[in-house]
Amino acid sequence: QRDAQLQFKREAAQAAVKYIEDGMAVGLGSGTTASVMIDALAVRVKNENLRIRAIPTSEASGEQARRLGITLSDFVQDPILDIAIDGADEVHRETLTLIKGRGGALLREKIVASAARKFIVIVDDRKIVDSLGSRMPLPIEVIPWGWERIQTLLISKIGARTAHPRTEKDGRIYQTDNHNFILDCVFDPITDAASLARDIAAITGVVDHGLFIDMASEVLVAGQNGVASLRR
Ligand code: A5P
Repeated sequence: QRDAQLQFKREAAQAAVKYIEDGMAVGLGSGTTASVMIDALAVRVKNENLRIRAIPTSEASGEQARRLGITLSDFVQDPILDIAIDGADEVHRETLTLIKGRGGALLREKIVASAARKFIVIVDDRKIVDSLGSRMPLPIEVIPWGWERIQTLLISKIGARTAHPRTEKDGRIYQTDNHNFILDCVFDPITDAASLARDIAAITGVVDHGLFIDMASEVLVAGQNGVASLRR
């Protein structure tokens, strides 16, 4: 099972890196699928001597890219990216709205994806859902100070069933690369993602949330029968 999942990640990643051309500015996602993609991209950069510049969405992806010889960039050099490639935790089958953030990198991922002309999402077919929030809670990044107040509002005003702070194995509260906390929020399956996103973003102290609405240009889905492409 696990081997099959890794193979699916490889196939989706290979299909995605084919979009990358010499001279491009590229956004690099985070998580295990994105990491497989960064490996595949590094092979192309080396073999084809591609001159690309990359903006990573996490410290981990940045380190991996640097180690593999991919040139890193920033928004001063590259205010607009040609393409960004990232994984996701859930993809809504019809709207292609995503839930991201299981790896904690949702904020930089959203900044990078929104700076890209094309945003390619790579997943295996288990992540395609008919209703968002059915596989995992929605991660919401909040500033650490006063997080308990934000938790209360998420439950009483927004209707989250639970909004637990994400913790490390030792019980301490997990901190993102931006030194914020994440509240993993369970909702009754999400029906109106746009209005939920607006309501969450309106709470003072919320930095961002894991709903990516109208952002994916294409979703490459790997499964038993190869890689399928979903577009809006
Ligand atoms: C990171 O914060 C996430 O948004 C990842 O893109 C997501 O968790 C997918 O990760 P995997 O590829 O490891 O499933």
